[in-house]
Amino acid sequence: NEGKLWGGRFAGGPSPELEALSCSTHFDWRLTPYDLAGSRAHAHALHRAGLLSDTDLAELERGLDVLGERYAAGDLHPEPSDEDVHGALERLLLLEVGPEVGGRLRAGRSRNDQIATLFKVFLRDHARVVAGCVLDLVDALLGQARAHLDPEPTVMPGRTHLQHAQPVLLSHHLLAHVWPLLRDVERLRDWDARVAGDSPYGSGALAGQSLSLDPEAVAAELGFTGSSANSIDGTASRDFVAELAYVAAQVGIDVSRLAEEVILWATREFGFVTLDDAWSTGSSIMPQKKNPDIAELARGKAGRLVGNLSGLLATLKALPLAYNRDLQEDKEPVFDSVDTLEVLLPAVTGMVATLRFDRARLAELAPQGYSLATDVAEWLVREGVPFRVAHEVAGACVRRCEELGVELDELTDEQFAEISPHLTPAVREVLTVTGSVASRDGRGGTAPRRVREQLDEVAAVAAAH
Ligand code: ARG
Repeated sequence: NEGKLWGGRFAGGPSPELEALSCSTHFDWRLTPYDLAGSRAHAHALHRAGLLSDTDLAELERGLDVLGERYAAGDLHPEPSDEDVHGALERLLLLEVGPEVGGRLRAGRSRNDQIATLFKVFLRDHARVVAGCVLDLVDALLGQARAHLDPEPTVMPGRTHLQHAQPVLLSHHLLAHVWPLLRDVERLRDWDARVAGDSPYGSGALAGQSLSLDPEAVAAELGFTGSSANSIDGTASRDFVAELAYVAAQVGIDVSRLAEEVILWATREFGFVTLDDAWSTGSSIMPQKKNPDIAELARGKAGRLVGNLSGLLATLKALPLAYNRDLQEDKEPVFDSVDTLEVLLPAVTGMVATLRFDRARLAELAPQGYSLATDVAEWLVREGVPFRVAHEVAGACVRRCEELGVELDELTDEQFAEISPHLTPAVREVLTVTGSVASRDGRGGTAPRRVREQLDEVAAVAAAH
């Protein structure tokens, strides 16, 4: 058991089959810089506790520096016999500084508090990167929303059940994708604040440490605001992993809902948008094809992100306290989640920023499908007609239009009057898309002045992040 962290009580080495199963360096090696930072903070704690001389500390720091530089240069690698990143780095440190000094570093810590701590630091870094990517996408959506608001707002058919419902401003619709993304950024911030208060170093294997080390000082050195109040919780809990995987899945879902619309909008039948060449793909056989692959991959990756979350939750379910090796399965799914978002989001951002909307087509479709029927009903209400009656009358207008094969504004004054004496020619004032959207001017509505106000509100929230 030469080079192992746990040789003492074993008569022989592990079987190759066990080694193959147990080894995690193929995915946890990327934690190296974090493990080295944790080791440095731990060395300082040992030194302050009088367990490392000044010269030993200096030598350990030198060794950790060398390993860090070699890693950065791509010149540090685990051996197949290394069980995990912690074991490999200890072995390599011993080679660098010798077993006498190197062998002192492990005092008062376990791989259990070590991994829990550095995994948090790693995920905090990536949560910040992901939040930045989400905010870039928000910027792209805001850019489009702004471009389609002034001087002349772009209108579109708003839908419920995918059926024409009421006309809305395109900017209003795009901002409806922004708000969930801003809430995701807020979720990442909340998550970070919670994780920041709970550095597990000092928890040992599960029961804490007896060497008068100062976990708060280690926590501060690693960028935490506090250390674990319970050593069992510190080493055995992984809700921080599942929570981040949830937020990642939610980001994926929010992006996927936008992506699905882009896919629909880019079809010939909708014809709402054209994708930029640099952000779409062709077909190997059909020369005419231009495909929304980024949007489709976004939709597909959302499933993968949800899978990562459910896999993690399944691993954690009914796991007894404290540490169990099952917990090694916590890394790949969430690594995959942050990696996925870090490649997906910039591509989606580029696609969104370069979308070209067909304003004329959107405007032509906006009033179709009798989407102004609600405006007729609400106009009648303003004329003093009870809504129940107004709804009936507007519905009768739609039925008449269907019989005649015309749109609402194509009914004649006589035809309106036949349906109801309340329908004077003045009703025509609401039978335009512009009139319709302008009338929805309560807070949160699609009236241009409200959408302008909303845009400022969104921009302020985004800027605050
Ligand atoms: N590689 C392990 C993990 O990722 C950490 C080591 C703890 N192993 C152990 N046998 N206590 O969870």
